[in-house]
Amino acid sequence: MGSRLAPSQTPVHLPAFNAALNAASAVLLVCGYFFIRRRRRQAHHWSMLGAFFFSGLFLAGYLWFHFHAGIVRYRGRGWLRVVYFSILIPHTILAAAIVPLALLTLTHAFRGRFDRHRRIARWTLPLWLFVSVTGVVVYFMLFG
Ligand code: HEM
Repeated sequence: MGSRLAPSQTPVHLPAFNAALNAASAVLLVCGYFFIRRRRRQAHHWSMLGAFFFSGLFLAGYLWFHFHAGIVRYRGRGWLRVVYFSILIPHTILAAAIVPLALLTLTHAFRGRFDRHRRIARWTLPLWLFVSVTGVVVYFMLFG
């Protein structure tokens, strides 16, 4: 690929920054859930928008990194390799599903259709949390 950077120019700190964005997103999702359970709607609203912002930033950083650095292969062997792929495969599939799910969940909320929002959000929230947390785990297994 023409845009591939030389090894010395590869943005080495970007994966750590991306993992931090995933962790921030996970924390905001959990906070947002507790806020709505306590009927604190404004706090729920802003926590969820914050999680969406951090996950969006993560996606941009992730694509940028892999566009320049290419595929980073896992070097672990034995059972760790099995664990790595057992996490990576559902993580990748669900990460792709989260984009339309989160957008739909937000759309229902912004249109005031809270019954539908609540119904779909009960899927979106745990799946999104899974993707954010496993994103951090994958980072540590790959770069830690
Ligand atoms: C994609 C981001 C969001 C997620 C994952 C999410 C998640 C959730 C979940 C899981 C519930 C149900 C909680 C329960 O079990 O009782 C809920 C309810 C609610 N959410 Fe969100 N939410 C998001 C964004 C928003 C936004 C931006 C707003 C405000 C515009 C909002 C307003 C509400 C309200 C008012 C309820 C209560 C609905 C009811 O009890 O009838 N949410 N949300």
